[in-house]
Amino acid sequence: MNNFIFQNATKVYFGQGCVREYLGCLTRSHETILLAYGGGSIKQNGVYDEVMSILRDKGKKVVEFSGIMANPTYRKVQEGAALARENHADMILAIGGGSVMDCCKAVSLAARYEGDIWTDYWERLGHINVEPLPLGVIVTVAGTGSECNGGAVITNEEKKIKTGRDYPKLNPRFALMDPTYTYSVPKKQMISGSFDILSHIMETYFSEPNEDNVSDDIMEALMKSVIRNLRVAIQNPEDYTARSNLMWDATMAENRIIKMGKKCDFECHNMEHQLGAYTNCNHGCGLAVLHPVYYRHIYQAGLPKFVRFAENVWNIPRDHRTDEELALAGIQALADFIREIGLPTTLKELGLTDKALLRPIADSCGISAGSYKTMTHEEILEIFEECFE
Ligand code: NZQ
Ligand code: ZN
Repeated sequence: MNNFIFQNATKVYFGQGCVREYLGCLTRSHETILLAYGGGSIKQNGVYDEVMSILRDKGKKVVEFSGIMANPTYRKVQEGAALARENHADMILAIGGGSVMDCCKAVSLAARYEGDIWTDYWERLGHINVEPLPLGVIVTVAGTGSECNGGAVITNEEKKIKTGRDYPKLNPRFALMDPTYTYSVPKKQMISGSFDILSHIMETYFSEPNEDNVSDDIMEALMKSVIRNLRVAIQNPEDYTARSNLMWDATMAENRIIKMGKKCDFECHNMEHQLGAYTNCNHGCGLAVLHPVYYRHIYQAGLPKFVRFAENVWNIPRDHRTDEELALAGIQALADFIREIGLPTTLKELGLTDKALLRPIADSCGISAGSYKTMTHEEILEIFEECFE
């Protein structure tokens, strides 16, 4: 194992009824709450009414910050920061998925920062020292795991950059996670969010070290849990066991635990983020298109891990296969799973039809230092071309 320091500052309240039971107490010492949400799903599924009734009962002043879009923009962050400042909000309560949580993390920094937080923090790896506005989250869709880390992925539309930064002080103070809140998530989003979970685990698993380490063992169990429970949830979206497992899988994938002692790759995320910056595509869907093709490019450099993946995650017997054949069979099993759950397999299906865009997108992708095989922009372009149709 490599050396590491571990801390996670978010307190999680998990399970059916947790919002009604704990939200009042958790907002006790705050007066003005910036209540943040997305395009309105919480008004249709009853979550908004439930939260508002609790906050009203406790006499809170509530300022609404709504319309946070999927792939939140820096402009939206600035809007939220201005609202928080004007109304002297002393807490942000984010209700939604990764987009709402990330936007609110950025708002909580921007509201307390005098300069331009994009240029001073997201764009270049400078140091800032800001005490963010306290943030609490109510998770409504499983996927990003943003509820238990300091990461926030923001899109700058003008500059065509979508990028994430992890500021440890941005861990939400609390995360309320009621799996029944995820029942109303549209099936396509449930599936793409679940693939995002799988992707976070794979991006960590397929990186050094290769020798025996507890993180890889936990990840194999988590990957199997996502695959098994997603299959159940597709059949019955209101299966509480499946939805609660998926919700906790998402948190476990991104609460830093499995990253301990690992280099971590996240090259597929670098590529998907730039696809998102140019096309506003769905995050989990973009990852689904990229993963198998990317892995066929890198598996030889990480052969023992790809063999483990085939045997331990997909239960593929060795029979008379060579290591190479077994590794490729594991990648094929992943590709077959992507087809089975109905995610896109080409960039065209994802909505990217202009091939001329591939070059600028490839050239703008970040290069991961943790990949088994360090990419070049040329090779990223090759991957995009192979994914095109
Ligand atoms: O906006 P509303 O109306 O709420 O609808 C949302 C949205 O359309 C809907 N939804 C959420 N909960 C629902 C629901 N619909 C019905 N019932 C519910 N209970 O789902 C749609 C997608 O929501 P979004 O928050 O965009 O999805 P997700 O959680 O996948 O977040 C994606 C964003 O997070 C970033 C992605 O790049 C993308 O910008 N990521 C953040 C990470 C992090 N902070 O750690 C890591 C990830 O790798 C990722 O990059
Ligand atoms: Zn992701």
